[in-house]
Amino acid sequence: MKVAVLGIGITKFGEQWESSFSNIFVEAGSKAIQDANIDGKDIEAIYVGTMSAGRFIDQEHINALIADQAGLNSIPSTRVEAACASGGLALRQSIMAIESGMHDVVVTGGVEKMTDTTMSKTTRTLVTAADQEWEAFLGMTFPGLYAMIARRHMHEFGTTREQLAMVSVKNHRNAKNNPFAQFNMEITVDDVLNSPKVADPLTLLDCSPITDGSACIVLASEEKAKEFTDSPIYVTGSGQASSTLSLHDREQITVIDSTCNASKEAYRRANITASDVQIADVHDAFTIGEILAIEGLGFVKKGEGGKATEDGVTDKGGRIPVNTSGGLKAKGHPVGATGIAQAVEIVSQLRGDAGKRQVNADIGLTHNVGGSGGTSIVHIFEK
Ligand code: COA
Repeated sequence: MKVAVLGIGITKFGEQWESSFSNIFVEAGSKAIQDANIDGKDIEAIYVGTMSAGRFIDQEHINALIADQAGLNSIPSTRVEAACASGGLALRQSIMAIESGMHDVVVTGGVEKMTDTTMSKTTRTLVTAADQEWEAFLGMTFPGLYAMIARRHMHEFGTTREQLAMVSVKNHRNAKNNPFAQFNMEITVDDVLNSPKVADPLTLLDCSPITDGSACIVLASEEKAKEFTDSPIYVTGSGQASSTLSLHDREQITVIDSTCNASKEAYRRANITASDVQIADVHDAFTIGEILAIEGLGFVKKGEGGKATEDGVTDKGGRIPVNTSGGLKAKGHPVGATGIAQAVEIVSQLRGDAGKRQVNADIGLTHNVGGSGGTSIVHIFEK
């Protein structure tokens, strides 16, 4: 498979008090369209990933709202939802629309406005992505679910508390060079260990924050792309898989099997293996999430994610740089936008446009997870 990326756009992540939900989508979309050097009339369809605009800002019918505010209200517009993987799923749906021959040029975006409501409502909204009967009803939250996974990983594999913290330290270091990131400060392992406890063993600095933001990408068929550019970045592999919604139904909670299965499909379609990937932006909603990701994607052996992080394998100068953008932890996690923001980082890197974050890579990967792993989406990008 080969679908071309013509343009990318992203807003500043963080609290966007002055801008509305649709304003931030249109800002990211306009940047992507400008970057693609296309005209509004070239766009045949819109896909938008958003997790819960209904609860965060009391607005549904997002597909029509976005098309209207973008001034593109005669073309098909589709809203896609898979919790924190809504952006990744929107990307996959638009790739399928192009591959099927249905459309030649598509704008795909993700957007979330999470800070306009109270923290308790935000937490309750996020936990709608967990099993209501077995988890949320009993008071479980996402930090709580990932804390249980972290404890089990520490117990089974000897992963240390410090190794979890090192994920956050690395991602904050990377975010310092990302002008769109929510946090630009460097932190130390001690800062992570001494920050307020959220759900033992996870502290504030092990968690992704609450974020407003949007990211967009313009995709085209390989043939159509030739009208606009000689050297697009291509999406060469896409994989999606599901797993149980609740943790207690899994054989092991230290493996996100949807990640393993989605990556297998993406590698097969791209005709590569895990060892060919040279850079990845993965779903570190909590520090343990990045350790599970690098194991599930096959970058390191199962149980060795903590040690690999400590050894610098995933550092910017390491064997496989992970989350050069700052990841969800430090760049921010506007849930529906995250999957597209990851693609924006990988495309910038492959184009050589990543400034001080730049690494040398021809093949990159994005990994987007819904909830505690009920959905995983993996995409492969190549020069
Ligand atoms: N990392 C770093 N700093 C953070 C932060 C984070 N994740 N979250 C908040 N802060 C900072 C704030 O900027 C603020 O700093 P200031 O006092 O200098 O202004 C301070 O910490 C307190 O912020 P506040 O908004 O009061 O934090 P909170 O206690 O209400 O929320 C969490 C913190 C970690 C509970 C919240 O961010 C959270 O729930 N994160 C997880 C989100 C999630 O589950 N996403 C879905 C994943 S599947």
